[in-house]
Amino acid sequence: MTRLDKRIREKIAQQKSRLVLALDLTADIYSLSEAERAQARASLLHHATEILVKTAPHLVAVKINYPLILALGLDFTAQLLSATDLITIGDVKIADIDKTAEWIARHLYGIGFDGLIAHPFVGFEKSLDSLFAVAREKERGVILVINMSHPGSLLFITPCTDALAEFAVQHSADGVIAPATRPADVKSARQHLGQEMLILSPGVGAQGARPGDAIRAGADLEIVGRAIYQADNPADVARFFNDEINDAYAEGESQHFIS
Ligand code: XMP
Repeated sequence: MTRLDKRIREKIAQQKSRLVLALDLTADIYSLSEAERAQARASLLHHATEILVKTAPHLVAVKINYPLILALGLDFTAQLLSATDLITIGDVKIADIDKTAEWIARHLYGIGFDGLIAHPFVGFEKSLDSLFAVAREKERGVILVINMSHPGSLLFITPCTDALAEFAVQHSADGVIAPATRPADVKSARQHLGQEMLILSPGVGAQGARPGDAIRAGADLEIVGRAIYQADNPADVARFFNDEINDAYAEGESQHFIS
């Protein structure tokens, strides 16, 4: 059985990329008639697949969240996932009791997601224990949110980030999410997590972080959404972000080598 974190490391080497595309497209399909809705769903699938296929050479993974899954439905989401051999991450931030978490996981691993994002603040017993069990059974992964990138996260999540990081290590998560918008928090997370745990950092581009900032602070992957999928040429912009991120990583490696 190959753990997801190991598969991500192999894909980083294969793709020469540490860039995750947040493919957050959606459509207001429930304001449409049934016939128009079917058409809108098909166009959305086409558009999402086109962006994914064109940007794929510059990516290691694609992250898909609720607005796209809800608009496409599970069958079309499965078709989208089958269009790529990148790592696929379902960003549904699971935070519920065991039975509910289990069935969210069964459906989403079932349509092809390699990893699912969950909130560790719900704890393990009778909650995330079921998610980890389904992940093990299906040979898939779990990524935990230990901090967030938006200003409101300072209220509840950020003050608990060290404990959430310890939880992630204790339960052998495949990776954690920490904010590129606050590189000092990424650095501190790295110190708590040790070197093995993958850190994925959103907030690059539209939320203000520059590509490479989180990598320099100790992250492994940077997540970019709007700056890429809203661009006139998403492939060119994805290449730019990937080059910047790889340069930042190489810089860190050479400094490490010198010291
Ligand atoms: P943008 O368009 O801002 O998209 O580049 C960022 C993507 O990442 C998600 N996001 C987060 N997910 N913790 C998370 O688990 C965070 O702190 C966080 N900040 C942004 C967001 O939903 C979008 O998909």
